[in-house]
Amino acid sequence: MHHFDYKNGVLHAEGVDLNAIAREVGTPVYVYSSATLERHYRVFKEAVGEKSHVFYAVKANGNLGVLMTLAKLGAGADTVSEGEIRKALAAGIPASRIVFSGVGKSADELAFAVEAGIYQVNVESEGELEVLSKIAEARGKRQAIVLRLNPEIGAGGHAKITTGGAANKFGVSLGEAERLYIRAANMPGVAIKGLALHIGSQIFDFAALEAAFRRMRALIEKLAAQGLPASRLDFGGGVGVPYEIGYPFDYGTDSLQTYGKMVREVTQGLDLEFGFEPGRVIAGNAGLLLTKVLYLNERADKTFVVVDAAMNDLLRPAMYEAHHEIWPVRQSTGTKRAYDVVGPICESSDTFATARELPELKPDDLVAIMTAGAYGASMSSTYNQRLLVPEVLVKDGEFAITRPRQTFEELLGTDRAPGWLA
Ligand SMILES: Cc1ncc(COP(=O)(O)O)c(C=O)c1O
Repeated sequence: MHHFDYKNGVLHAEGVDLNAIAREVGTPVYVYSSATLERHYRVFKEAVGEKSHVFYAVKANGNLGVLMTLAKLGAGADTVSEGEIRKALAAGIPASRIVFSGVGKSADELAFAVEAGIYQVNVESEGELEVLSKIAEARGKRQAIVLRLNPEIGAGGHAKITTGGAANKFGVSLGEAERLYIRAANMPGVAIKGLALHIGSQIFDFAALEAAFRRMRALIEKLAAQGLPASRLDFGGGVGVPYEIGYPFDYGTDSLQTYGKMVREVTQGLDLEFGFEPGRVIAGNAGLLLTKVLYLNERADKTFVVVDAAMNDLLRPAMYEAHHEIWPVRQSTGTKRAYDVVGPICESSDTFATARELPELKPDDLVAIMTAGAYGASMSSTYNQRLLVPEVLVKDGEFAITRPRQTFEELLGTDRAPGWLA
């Protein structure tokens, strides 16, 4: 379920007319719904069990307002950089609810995490294990860790977001995991608590997740038999959201209930602390990208609609060939036309939709690119020297600008002239 809907023929976000946001903030702009974020968090938590830890994956959407909304519900954070740890802390997520994942954590980042006292580092290689142990030992600490397993089972909506296959860079191999676990158990700077995995994103194939979870469980049981009982298992994120659906579109709870049931089956009889790292399923349908039609470019065989949002604002279509529904802000019952919806950037990949049936559009019309709450603004850039897109959070008929549009002073101010040219 999401909270974007038509009222009197105009698309609203939780009761706020999107025209009002466009007037005040301009376009393009991301609009997030607090109610959807809250609902998805609660449904997820309920599906995996109230005792489980839910570490929201900050990479999906690291906006301060979004993080604060989830922090208030008791969410933890799955982070992959010092910046994400700092952002989570700034949003009020305590260090005791932060995990740190990623294949390339630098020594400085690990030191920052240890000093902050985070809940867990998800270690992905032997080299990282050695560096982390030394860093923590030098500070008189023992950092709680889990070892991220590469279960040799990948899944996901696109090859670029599949992470659990043997060919993917993530985690330690099945063959090495046992030796590294035993090694970690004997290191002075770390306290090994268990295993983690994350096999990919935009997953609907729960059989693949289940098979990976079973591999992780089998390894935990093998280690326990050797006198190394685990106390934690981290199941990563990855649950998919529907992008290609007609109106009214909804992220039903069925899929999460099926996921939760599968998790309960796989973990039956295990008395451990469970962690989950959902990103997309929390934030995906909680956001849209509001954009304005600039021009129509008629060709013999097609019509381009040029909007003011571009691939630098929402990279998913260009990067993953991703589909996003596009809804006109003003509902129309008139005839539909097929359009190619494109942005202003100088690349043909700057295309949001091809041959998409939409009501007749004209310059200045507003359209909403739906399901843009995850991996949207968080992947945005200033490519083509475009200003970073602003973000707005809506709550109960009110809205707040949670990231103002970048200014040209800020854009130009980040560069420095080399001394010999100054
Ligand atoms: C380690 C880790 N955990 C969690 C996630 C979140 O995945 P999703 O947004 O598919 O739930 C990711 C995403 O890439 C990840 O790399």
